Amino acid sequence: MKTVVLSETVRYGTQDGVAVILLDNPPVNALGHSVRVGVAAALDRVAEDTGVHAAVIAGSGRGFCGGADVRQFNTPAATAGPMLGEVIAKIEASAKPVVAAIHGVALGGGLELALGCHHRIATADARLGLTEVTLGLVPGAGGTQRLPRLVGVAEALDLVQHGRRVTGVRAAGLGLVDAVFEGDPIAAGTAHAAAAEAVPAPGVRSMAPTEFDFSARRDAVGAKDRNALAQRAAVDCLEAATRLPLEEGLTYERARFDELVAGPESKALRHVFFAERQAAKIADLPADTAVREVVQAAVIGAGTMGGGIAMAFANAGIPVVLFERDQQALDRGLARMRHNYDITAAKGRLTAAQVEERMGLIRRTLDLADAADADLVIEAVFEDMDVKKDVFRRLDAVCKPGAILASNTSRLSVDEIAAVTSRPQDVIGLHFFSPANIMRLLEVVRGDATSPTTLASCTRAAQRIGKAPVVVRVCEGFVGNRMLTPYWREANFLLEEGASPQQVDQALTRFGMAMGPHNVADLAGLDINWATRKRLAPTRPAHLRYCRVPDRICEQGRFGQKTGAGYYRYEEGSRIPHPDPVVDEIIARCAREAGVERRALTDDEIVERCILALVNEGAQILAEGIAQRASDIDVVYVSGYGFPAWRGGPMHYAETLGLDVTLERIRALHEVHGEHWTPAPLLQRLVAAGATRFETC
Ligand code: NAI
Repeated sequence: MKTVVLSETVRYGTQDGVAVILLDNPPVNALGHSVRVGVAAALDRVAEDTGVHAAVIAGSGRGFCGGADVRQFNTPAATAGPMLGEVIAKIEASAKPVVAAIHGVALGGGLELALGCHHRIATADARLGLTEVTLGLVPGAGGTQRLPRLVGVAEALDLVQHGRRVTGVRAAGLGLVDAVFEGDPIAAGTAHAAAAEAVPAPGVRSMAPTEFDFSARRDAVGAKDRNALAQRAAVDCLEAATRLPLEEGLTYERARFDELVAGPESKALRHVFFAERQAAKIADLPADTAVREVVQAAVIGAGTMGGGIAMAFANAGIPVVLFERDQQALDRGLARMRHNYDITAAKGRLTAAQVEERMGLIRRTLDLADAADADLVIEAVFEDMDVKKDVFRRLDAVCKPGAILASNTSRLSVDEIAAVTSRPQDVIGLHFFSPANIMRLLEVVRGDATSPTTLASCTRAAQRIGKAPVVVRVCEGFVGNRMLTPYWREANFLLEEGASPQQVDQALTRFGMAMGPHNVADLAGLDINWATRKRLAPTRPAHLRYCRVPDRICEQGRFGQKTGAGYYRYEEGSRIPHPDPVVDEIIARCAREAGVERRALTDDEIVERCILALVNEGAQILAEGIAQRASDIDVVYVSGYGFPAWRGGPMHYAETLGLDVTLERIRALHEVHGEHWTPAPLLQRLVAAGATRFETC
């Protein structure tokens, strides 16, 4: 078939009386401006061409269409006509039947385009969905109006509200596509179109009356869901589909889309989406850097972290050797892993066979020599430099040349660990978060000697096991934990100044944090930070304010949930925190000793103190080059520390506040609270230069 080019990204041809409209905008045929122009022009040709009686729309490359070109959001190209809605209206009005032949993906606007067609066919493994809610949006080109007319309200709502994807097979079951095809989409689409009769497109169909309880559905949206606003708007749009004629429904949907796309929540979610993709890229890596595949992994230490890390590899189908120092510890670790898998299986998310398969990929050993063949070894033994150095010396002796030796240390120097080996270029930090089989964040800690190949291989392996890798450099606590230090510092100062642990925690959860700082401390175990504080005590400047509350709590053997008491008290076997007068007494005494006068604090003040402490430290981390980009810091906080995604991470939050306003408030805090609040020089420089974003530095 000969094709002509109708725009940069759309080709047109005819074959046996059927027009073929081919989207050709790699990598996912996103619906940028030139695609919309091209499809509209193609439809004009279809109408004019007397030799054509039907048309097929298909995608070139890996899929049909991945949806709107999100990079064009809030740019003139996004609003340059024709809009997607107009293109779809043109398809719908076509007197000649139009078939969408879907392979790969039809997501967001891509599925909306297909919904405008008179017929849809899909490959069995194609993935179809209206995924806009994940970016804090609703479909804006009729998806919420046409889908329920095709598959009914309940199914449509599940797809739209949760951005769920369905396979081609499932789509056929739902009536979303007419048939499943195999092979070439153009051939299958042309054959389907050749035989197609003009049936009304979904938008022309009437809507069956429904008793669906939309209010209950709206009320059930979780207050903490990252995209609660978009979910509620999705329910509203579906309700509109049942109450309004199509044209009015489309107008309503578009208005909701416009409102969301301009709002701060969706902007933040889009920021996080791009930030994650960006974070895996390493700015100074040579383009020809070789990458080593991880075929066999090994984990040293089967404790809380080691077990979770081994599961993360097994979940991705990568065999892993798990080493422990004694049989008892190994048995304990294995029992915990099996227990975790059994819980997942009980929820119906894994079959018994899958559990066995995954456990089968984890080979247990007490002989370190069994790690000899591993391409990547991750050490997760006690957080003790001497213990870690000993493990790395032994690994250096047994591991094959070129194996990557990684440490899961939370705070220790990867450079110091690397120095005890004969191959520091192969040593790196891989800082997983607990529970390691679930949490997406992975800080990839680049040592001074870490080679580009080691780094690139680790980010690749991280993505293979479903993690969000963020490359950071060595410093005390790396990015995430280092920023926690001033955050927790303020959270504790606030106690001395008059707040209770529950007021601080509630203020921050109301701001959107998944948990309050004292709740997190009790969950993670207070002893870990206590040990760090003791280690760092000799270097702590004596003139700086220091809050003794957490030390005093620890001195009473209160290490958090695991000891039944920390900042809060816990009933036997329960994780529910109860305020504890013992802690109130400790706080009051510490305040007295420190000469701090207690007063009533507002929630706003609590949030400002804690969140701006994160921002100021983040700016410092950025200036030191510990993080490559401000958006990397946001990924760390959103995917690893429970920062609300709809606020985009601490650095994005500061940008929305205004860097100038942020600096002004930090300066005001500096006036009152002194040196701890010295404004980060980078922030001062940016504001002086009139910058509104960190990324401009
Ligand atoms: P854990 O105490 O639960 O587990 C440590 C395991 O290592 C124990 O099973 C112990 O028997 C084993 N072990 C100790 N010395 C060993 C040796 N020489 N050879 C083999 N096995 C040995 O500790 P956890 O919490 O799993 O921490 C491990 C590492 O992960 C630490 O460096 C910690 O800082 C880091 N980490 C911990 C996080 C957490 O939330 N618990 C989060 C991120 C990192």
